[in-house]
Amino acid sequence: MLVGYYVYQNQREVPLEEVFPGKHWVRPIENLPNLKAVGAPTAKNCGNCHTEIYEEWKLSTHANALSDLQFQSELAKPSSPKWICLNCHIPIQNQRETIITALQGGDYFKPIEIPNPNFNPEMKEEAITCATCHVRVDANTKESYVIGGRGGTSPPHPTQIKKEFLENRCNDCHNETYTLNQSLVCSFQTGTELQSSESKQTCVSCHMPEVKRSFVKASLHRPIRNSHRHGFVGGGVPKTFALYKDQIRLGYKPGLVLTGIQVEKDQMILHIQNQFADHYVTSGDPERFYRLTLHGFDSTGKTLFSREMKIGQEWEWSPNAKKISDNRIPRKGEFEWSIDRKGDLTSIVQYRFQAVHVRLKNETSDYMMLTAENVAEPYQNKVKNIKTFYPHSSIVIESFFDAYGKIQKETSLEELYKRNAERAGE
Ligand code: HEC
Ligand code: HEC
Ligand code: HEC
Ligand code: HEC
Ligand code: HEC
Repeated sequence: MLVGYYVYQNQREVPLEEVFPGKHWVRPIENLPNLKAVGAPTAKNCGNCHTEIYEEWKLSTHANALSDLQFQSELAKPSSPKWICLNCHIPIQNQRETIITALQGGDYFKPIEIPNPNFNPEMKEEAITCATCHVRVDANTKESYVIGGRGGTSPPHPTQIKKEFLENRCNDCHNETYTLNQSLVCSFQTGTELQSSESKQTCVSCHMPEVKRSFVKASLHRPIRNSHRHGFVGGGVPKTFALYKDQIRLGYKPGLVLTGIQVEKDQMILHIQNQFADHYVTSGDPERFYRLTLHGFDSTGKTLFSREMKIGQEWEWSPNAKKISDNRIPRKGEFEWSIDRKGDLTSIVQYRFQAVHVRLKNETSDYMMLTAENVAEPYQNKVKNIKTFYPHSSIVIESFFDAYGKIQKETSLEELYKRNAERAGE
């Protein structure tokens, strides 16, 4: 009897919702039929008319969420429940070879899959494509329609206006905390961080800056309106070196500002404020951090003094995932970096402060290279050489000041981004 029950439990096809109640990422967005006046709801097709928006989106992290080398590397780990990862990184059923109908015995490592007749390989590569946010199926007509935020426009495709839906869509993926098993934790709390600050802004206000232009290519003769950049720039560390040149144009600016330098007898205090991000800095992926460095030089340029500080979270991943520390800076919050000045510093004539936003540690990419044989083609070879393909960090602030704390020079963001495109590693 008991054995029979055990076998039954292990073979039983358990509905996805029973294992993960209330989680939108348990299923992809349903298959989207072709859209009137557009065809298959691919970004490429949208781009036939929405040319500039398409070009911006192509440069975004969203468009790169499947080809991202770090994603491919983590996806290849035996401990990754791949279908769950894909439900956020390629979230539409048309992008998937198979449909998952249930979990065998309720085990998330045993999805039951059937072929998907509507699989669109081109759309798969588009990852977080336009339709992720903009296309759904009308429950009555069973036809695809476009979701817009403006209204009063004259599109050739069926359109419904739901501004709030579009604005709130970000939180579905950027505000999820879930412990799947002891070592696998999803911890993105950018939405909650924003909500619990006093901010009146939305993700769109900062990550999709407004720009006056036609929504479509000029040959369609539509009016100039308030449009939004679709580059979705975040922490300023893009996915390829070639993307550095577009970060500032698409809206990048660091959240942190060096607001003051106090020089005292035995210590120096650097005041750093989160002025521009209405969530914590850093936010999102728990492995990101800021590295602050201070160097003191003599008149020949020799380094006589150096100090380092980290702003971010510290997690322990095994045996159990656990947050150990967190000194991130909330909206408008100030961080005081106190630095002891012991020793003979009389010959220091200049100090250099740098803030480096780190997305990937050297240690982690070393490990990725070692385990690259598990990675799917065509990414395997790139992961083997990840150091040459993948920006790990960006210098986002650089200031020089004298021994009294008086600022002499601040390097412009443009200059830093030229340099970032040429440097590599953490
Ligand atoms: C054949 C050309 C064409 C294609 C293809 C096309 N659109 Fe449009 N779209 C338009 C035009 C024209 C407008 C209206 C512009 C205006 O009046 O300023 C529009 C408007 C929109 C709007 C704004 C509606 C509003 O009022 O808020 C959104 C959003 C949109 N399209 C998304 C998409 C998406 C997503 C795709 C691909 C799935 C797509 N479009 C494909 C031509 C097109
Ligand atoms: C379907 C899930 C999903 C939705 C919806 C979504 N995102 Fe993302 N977003 C992602 C993923 C996944 C990444 C990271 C991809 C990677 O790094 O490979 C990302 C990356 C980003 C980044 C880049 C972070 C960085 O520093 O590189 C920004 C900024 C961002 N999203 C903003 C938004 C905004 C604003 C919205 C709402 C308008 C939104 N996202 C909606 C999944 C989503
Ligand atoms: C992560 C979600 C997301 C993705 C992906 C996305 N958009 Fe948008 N889109 C938005 C939001 C949010 C708005 C602004 C809504 C508002 O407040 O008016 C918007 C606005 C628009 C508009 C109206 C004009 C404007 O600029 O405000 C068009 C047209 C549009 N998107 C087309 C596209 C196309 C084409 C793609 C793919 C190439 C795309 N979007 C990808 C979220 C997204
Ligand atoms: C007031 C402007 C503002 C608002 C509102 C805002 N952000 Fe940001 N966000 C920023 C800035 C500035 C940065 C760059 C911070 C840095 O690295 O110094 C950033 C960085 C990010 C990053 C990269 C994480 C990191 O540490 O670099 C993600 C992801 C992100 N934002 C998502 C969101 C989402 C999702 C929302 C809405 C829930 C949102 N942001 C609301 C300004 C904003
Ligand atoms: C709830 C939606 C969701 C799920 C499920 C999810 N991700 Fe993500 N992932 C995101 C978002 C949102 C980001 C962007 C966060 C940021 O940029 O700070 C992201 C970013 C990433 C990144 C890039 C981190 C960086 O700093 O560049 C990797 C790698 C990644 N995810 C791997 C995975 C893997 C592997 C899985 C499955 C075990 C997974 N994700 C499941 C939403 C999700």
